[in-house]
Amino acid sequence: MADKSIAGKGLEDVVVATSDICLIDGKKGTLVYRGYDIRELVEGGATFEETAYLLLNGKFPNRTELDDFSRAMAGCRALPKEVLKIMQILAHQSHPMELLRTVTSLMSSYDPDRGDTSLDAMRRRALRLVAQFPTIVATFDHMRNNRDPVTPDPELSHAANFLYMLRDEKPDKYESRVFDVCLILHAEHELNASTFSARVTASTLAGMFGAVTSAVGTLRGPLHGGANEEVMKMLIEVDSVEKAESHVKQLFADKRKIMGFGHRVYRTDDPRATFLREYSRELGKRKQTPKWFEISQKIEEIVKANKTLYPNVDFYSASTYHYLGIPRDLFTPIFATSRISGWCAHILEQYQHNRLIRPTADYTGPQDLKYVPVDERK
Ligand code: ACO
Repeated sequence: MADKSIAGKGLEDVVVATSDICLIDGKKGTLVYRGYDIRELVEGGATFEETAYLLLNGKFPNRTELDDFSRAMAGCRALPKEVLKIMQILAHQSHPMELLRTVTSLMSSYDPDRGDTSLDAMRRRALRLVAQFPTIVATFDHMRNNRDPVTPDPELSHAANFLYMLRDEKPDKYESRVFDVCLILHAEHELNASTFSARVTASTLAGMFGAVTSAVGTLRGPLHGGANEEVMKMLIEVDSVEKAESHVKQLFADKRKIMGFGHRVYRTDDPRATFLREYSRELGKRKQTPKWFEISQKIEEIVKANKTLYPNVDFYSASTYHYLGIPRDLFTPIFATSRISGWCAHILEQYQHNRLIRPTADYTGPQDLKYVPVDERK
């Protein structure tokens, strides 16, 4: 019998670190980055660049700092040509999340600060990763479709440049802002599974590329960031508002999870879903295809009527991204292009107050067995 006390399964409610980066109140449904409620950021007109600066540096930049940061980010969007060559080989046979995970790891070999473990070098690496993630995703999409990748435009904001690189067409102001807000909303979320994974890797003093590679691998799963892709599959399968009820009831009857619903921390509306719902509604109107929003809304209504479950960030981001013309299998990589800022903030924080993260397990297997040579075993 073990004499250790076991934490909640899945580490539910277990506090494993102190952090100055993010505060979530699951009962009130609030999400706070470095002391600022995300509603303040979105409604006040903050940009992703300002948000990334805030997460990485702990305070908002002044005008000069923001201009320098934005210029530095825009200046390192391009990928090393050796990386592009390897991406070309992998593009036709990889899921975009596998590609992103592999390329993140590969980038360590082309790191201009290779071997430098100083905090300054870590910060430069973080900035480059934030700048380059969208380029990896957009470039991959062109390569797998046998098109020439679009060169990043340093005159465009981070959000507008991503849509431009992906669609080879400059987005209008409204779509740029919607995408900018999507990036802000996904940027950080305390010790979610992928961030925890990044911190565990960083705590061994493995480098930043290793920690981010762990995080990308963790984000992919359908119980975490991979849910947005699954939500869109469900919307396409349902295909009409009329079929939503029978579809959801069948999922309940089969005891299957409804993707995009439920959360380990929120017990009320996920504050990110509140914004995304409205963007999905408005984009549906503007694109004259309200169907995807309407099916989503109907599913939400049915789920809420049957269970105490609320939509999480992945539910309305699916239709929002679809309206923005983003291919379904890029939804999770796009989540990563934003969350990279939060991951890097946590990795920097871990390095600054590091102690190896190494929990323990309650052993429940057999004990005191005797070794039997292989030929004597039954
Ligand atoms: N559909 C149906 N039932 C659900 C759902 C759902 N989406 N989510 C939770 N439940 C039910 C479970 O079946 C369980 O019921 P039971 O007690 O009768 O067995 C109960 O609610 C608790 O669920 P858990 O899975 O134990 O809750 P946990 O905190 O471990 O999981 C999670 C949270 C993984 C997000 C879960 O709600 C889920 O699988 N949701 C669907 C996938 C998803 O949308 N993931 C994205 C989350 S947001 C993010 O990571 C970016």
